[in-house]
Amino acid sequence: MALKNRKILLGVTGSIAVHKAVDLARRLTEQGASVHVVMTDAAKKFVTPLSFEVASQNKVHSDMFADPLSHITLAADADIVVVAPASANSIGKFAGGIADDLLSTCMLSVTGKALLAPAMNWRMYENGVLQRNLQFLISRGMLQVGPERGSLACGEEAIGRMADVPEILEAIRAALSEQDFSGRKIVVTAGPTREYIDPVRFISNRSSGKMGFAIARAAMRRGATVTLVSGPAQVNPPCRVEFIAVETAAAMREAVLGKLHDCAVLIMTAAVADFSPLRREDKKVDKSDSLTLNLKKTPDILAEIGAMKQRPLLVGFSAETGADLSRAKRKRKEKGADLMVFNNVESPGSGFDVDTNEITIIEADNVTTLPLMTKDEAADALLDRVSTFIS
Ligand code: CTP
Repeated sequence: MALKNRKILLGVTGSIAVHKAVDLARRLTEQGASVHVVMTDAAKKFVTPLSFEVASQNKVHSDMFADPLSHITLAADADIVVVAPASANSIGKFAGGIADDLLSTCMLSVTGKALLAPAMNWRMYENGVLQRNLQFLISRGMLQVGPERGSLACGEEAIGRMADVPEILEAIRAALSEQDFSGRKIVVTAGPTREYIDPVRFISNRSSGKMGFAIARAAMRRGATVTLVSGPAQVNPPCRVEFIAVETAAAMREAVLGKLHDCAVLIMTAAVADFSPLRREDKKVDKSDSLTLNLKKTPDILAEIGAMKQRPLLVGFSAETGADLSRAKRKRKEKGADLMVFNNVESPGSGFDVDTNEITIIEADNVTTLPLMTKDEAADALLDRVSTFIS
């Protein structure tokens, strides 16, 4: 879900985390969102409005009387109002209906989406009054991201740190996405597997995990409960998905089978190694002029689940060298998958390590070739197709 052209009202209250909010405004603006910032007087004690004006490329608002209608129009014009950081005092005001400055007045007039990123000392966060205020706002439909455990301004390690910027960005994207996978459980596999020869050497492949991680992120944004089972990938796990790290094909099989209960869709982007050494040596193998490895086939996870009577909707990924779809079409049938996604790893901009992909979605009676796009966009395009099968 792109943030391009989305209108975001960013409310900033007094907290040391205001510094992170400047970065948030900058990142939102970079991604094409139109960002308007409302600062409280307390927020201005930490950072000057100029920082937000540079980051958002818009004038900062804080005077309730500068424009007679801004307390209504700022919130009404926004696709989402984000308060980051949200101090204990501001949360108390929002919950109590107090409207004594521009931000609290805007919050009383919000009828659309609103997201709070609380930031405060743990004593304040765990205080029953704050919790009651927060729960009341959430029961009225407001969304919350964070806070996290970490080092607080007082030097203590505890809960209260404002969520990090990538997590807030993810929560904003999720809030703005259609929730067409709400209540659905989706399992995604990603990355390569490693088949060990000895404790230090293994057989693997070039899969980066990026496509699978993008699908897990997109499904989570669209309301799914997501489990991501991944081999050693080159990207960080998305926020708010259940992440199961595995190494071998056998471990991936175990993890996936253990998560099939209630699963609506299994999307196997993992590049599972096809062979593993017949035996894993306990000690590092001595170097010699040549080495002969005896290999055995790894379990075919997709085919095993494809043969089950009760199974989720199955989506496989077929990375090929060349534009011929026939191998991918054959694999779809042989493995019992509903959809097989073909991609030619030799095509420019597709395949390993890059952030873009050109995919073809093969169904029983339909083939859709999509243009080159980012892996995030490809993930959403694939989920658009998947949603037609499960609705
Ligand atoms: N797959 C699997 N278990 C395996 C091998 C592959 O579940 N042991 C899944 C992959 O996750 C992918 C699909 O099968 O969704 C197709 O994988 P691919 O590697 O293209 O096919 P293979 O059957 O391994 O055939 P080949 O390597 O010869 O192309």
